[in-house]
Amino acid sequence: MAEVVIVSSKGAAGALVAGEIAGLIRRDPEVVLGLATGSTPLPVYEALPAALAGADVSRVRGFALDEYVGIDPAHPESYRNVITREVVEPLGLSPERIRTPNGAVDTIEHAGEDYEAAIAAAGGVELQILGIGTDGHIGFNEPGSSFASRTRVKTLTAQTRRDNARFFDSIDEVPMHCITQGLGTILSARHLVLLAFGEGKAAAVAGAVEGPVSASCPGSAIQLHPRATVVVDEAAASRLERADYYRYAWENKPTWQGI
Ligand code: PGA
Repeated sequence: MAEVVIVSSKGAAGALVAGEIAGLIRRDPEVVLGLATGSTPLPVYEALPAALAGADVSRVRGFALDEYVGIDPAHPESYRNVITREVVEPLGLSPERIRTPNGAVDTIEHAGEDYEAAIAAAGGVELQILGIGTDGHIGFNEPGSSFASRTRVKTLTAQTRRDNARFFDSIDEVPMHCITQGLGTILSARHLVLLAFGEGKAAAVAGAVEGPVSASCPGSAIQLHPRATVVVDEAAASRLERADYYRYAWENKPTWQGI
């Protein structure tokens, strides 16, 4: 099962995960990170400079989970721009070493295959940061997505378009399609770290961690992974039936183990 760590705040979650990532970068300056967009990973990115304490990040490589199809690359909400603004620039990563799936319509037919080939050529993702949608999606793998899926084009659900409308002037501007790493792609990363905060994510977290393994809750794919860590605040943990056990296991965790 996934290891569940219940923390007191987003800041505590950010510091915990940033510490793990900083350790990876120190051990391997060319480490391949799986990056996520959305509000959830922001505390991790914010905590990274302190955790890195000046470590060299210029050779770190990264792959984002997803991108909107057909969005103007210059649009501030294209995930390329979001990753550049929220991760690459503040952390001083090298932009040419950070990839996002290519959402351009004219090359979309082979964009998924190209992205898979690029991840494979980099040796795979060491640590994949994940958020989870209120409908249980990870990446943009909406309910019903195959656990074997690789990077491909998907249609966003109406709920996801509503959830993401806050980043656009109106819901009509939210693209209808996306290109996303598949659940199979995500499961190929060597360590999954899923974060979630707030009451609104409690049902999705419970479904992912304790629900049946089912394509109806794409986040439940993490139960198939040999090394998955779920970092949640109290509100996001509020529907977990085994919360007491997760706290007990964390309190008694051997110090040498890390997350
Ligand atoms: P959020 O999105 O971090 O903005 O809540 C998570 C997701 O949709 O995967």
